[in-house]
Amino acid sequence: MSENVFNQMANHYDTPDRLALAEIIRAEIRQNLPKETNQKVFIDYGGGTGLVSLPLANLFKETWIMDASEAMLTVTDQKITHGHLRDVYTQLADLTNDLPNQKADFLLVSLVLLHIPDTKLILKKLADLLNPGGQLFIIDFNKNEAVNHPKVHNGFEHEELKQSLAEAGLTPLKLETFHEGENLFMKQPASLFLAISQK
Ligand SMILES: C[S@@+](CC[C@H](N)C(=O)[O-])C[C@H]1O[C@@H](n2cnc3c(N)ncnc32)[C@H](O)[C@@H]1O
Repeated sequence: MSENVFNQMANHYDTPDRLALAEIIRAEIRQNLPKETNQKVFIDYGGGTGLVSLPLANLFKETWIMDASEAMLTVTDQKITHGHLRDVYTQLADLTNDLPNQKADFLLVSLVLLHIPDTKLILKKLADLLNPGGQLFIIDFNKNEAVNHPKVHNGFEHEELKQSLAEAGLTPLKLETFHEGENLFMKQPASLFLAISQK
């Protein structure tokens, strides 16, 4: 797991490039959320500094930003305090070790799956974190042969991911590429998909 890397990066994670990408990701999520979410619980798993999810928090009854990196969550906590954000909580969590008690109606996993070695295992744990009928939103890179790094997956194949989601007990509802860019993934051109599945 890349936890230590993110502990070291936390205080300079929010670069203009990452902010711009977070806006693109957030717009895609918004477009795919139903209208009525204000009684729903939202968990951003591997939410890091809350770049994607903090501006979405006012749509939900409660928002939880969970992450395995304490330093990333410290940055999020500062944003919550300075922004006087209500009903937004952080929790140190690594599903590969423990399952938190909190469950989600909407569960976001943005640019996290690529950092977790056992995809099938983490998808099963993510399914456990959902309330019945809850939806999992995965944002990640499409398979990219130009990327080669010992600690990250070089993206995901759609059909393989759908199969793994089904094995985790989730029904895939949508899986679509929504963004392409230069220098997007380890300095390579790359594209991002959104996968939505339901428990
Ligand atoms: C590339 S950052 C993405 C942050 C945020 N989701 C976003 O889109 O801006 C990956 C995040 O996943 C977290 N992470 C990696 N492995 C994890 C695990 N097993 N459990 C929880 N968080 C994890 C890292 O600490 C980091 O904050």
